[in-house]
Amino acid sequence: MVTVEELTANPHPHLARLRATSPVAWVRELDAWLVTGRSAVVEIMRDSATFTVDDPRFSTGRVVGPSMLSTDGSTHTRHREAFAAVFRPALTKRRLGAVVRAVAERRVAAVRSAPMVDLRTAVAGPVAAEVAIEALGLVDTDAVDVLAWYTAIADAVSLLSVDLDVIADDSLMDGVRAAVDRTVKVPEAALARARTSADLSDDEFASNVAIVLFGALETSEAMIANLLRLVVADPKIHALLAEDSTMRDRSIEESLRLEPGASFLDRYVVDDAERLGAVFRKGDHVIVSLAGANRDPLAHHRPDEFLFDRGGELAHLTFASGPHSCLGAHLARMEARAVLDAWFDLGIRVEPAEHGFDMPTGFVFRKPDRLMVANRPV
Ligand code: HEM
Repeated sequence: MVTVEELTANPHPHLARLRATSPVAWVRELDAWLVTGRSAVVEIMRDSATFTVDDPRFSTGRVVGPSMLSTDGSTHTRHREAFAAVFRPALTKRRLGAVVRAVAERRVAAVRSAPMVDLRTAVAGPVAAEVAIEALGLVDTDAVDVLAWYTAIADAVSLLSVDLDVIADDSLMDGVRAAVDRTVKVPEAALARARTSADLSDDEFASNVAIVLFGALETSEAMIANLLRLVVADPKIHALLAEDSTMRDRSIEESLRLEPGASFLDRYVVDDAERLGAVFRKGDHVIVSLAGANRDPLAHHRPDEFLFDRGGELAHLTFASGPHSCLGAHLARMEARAVLDAWFDLGIRVEPAEHGFDMPTGFVFRKPDRLMVANRPV
């Protein structure tokens, strides 16, 4: 019906075909239900009593330890509460507005200094990593440390997802635990206040810090790379955003809708249930397609097009919905806006390079592999 390769290369036509005929479909190739219709996606994300994240096949929990991302119900609330307070929108703006702007300006300014540059590795990746470290205020921690921890943990997650009997190496979390220990000793650090109010053991607290830190990396990198791709590839969009800064937030939402950084979510069926026209069996794997939901023609007209004016339409689901909705949505939007503002304030003028200006790809995290651009002569 549809393969992992097809969903990795360009999922949108396949998702559209499935959504039109069976928005909740059993896909043998994936050994899972694939949910592509917006209303079914919302219903599943909001019903954690039937569709849970708490399953050993969700290997992140086995590597990082239980956290808000791998628990449901009252345990989930206990894990999430203290961190939700740290990322409240008004506080995030006050605490991080200036620092996010400074990170974005520094990285965007560097684009001017080379004749050719890859916007993914020069801007999107570093901005995502530096903002994540600043957001948690991690003491004596740099992007190189964080990326090394992330790579080791992501490799273990992939390994464990194919073998349920493998036990993760506990030392993989040593770097995060040490950074948390250093940070919570600083009384004015946001994390120190969260530590005091959290009803969590030291290990549980560190697991949640890891989830916040790593949850902010590939997703934000994809968001920035996909947005810059649109801006560079389409001179009309570029000109409009340069002229009218009030359009920038809308362009960020359209880019997030068209290519959600995290394209699929995993859920597991708690008990046999007949729902949404399907017969779910206890233990079934359910793959929720945010990319599919975001282009559902029942919610968005001309869903495959970038339109500035979608007033009155339902919001996109890129930051999910329900109990696990993204804690960093506000920060991510601030980050994207800071990059766009820096881009136009600094007058960056580049054009796509002939080779290496890639389309987004990836099964879960969808972004261009390379985004090579050449500086335009003034
Ligand atoms: C464009 C960037 C981002 C996207 C597209 C994104 C997307 C998502 C999605 C789809 C989920 C739901 C996961 C699920 O239900 O299984 C989620 C959860 C989460 N996100 Fe983000 N995220 C982004 C940036 C961030 C940032 C910057 C942070 C850092 C604060 C963050 C922290 C989290 C956390 C901690 C969760 C887990 C919440 C829970 O399970 O209760 N995210 N994100």
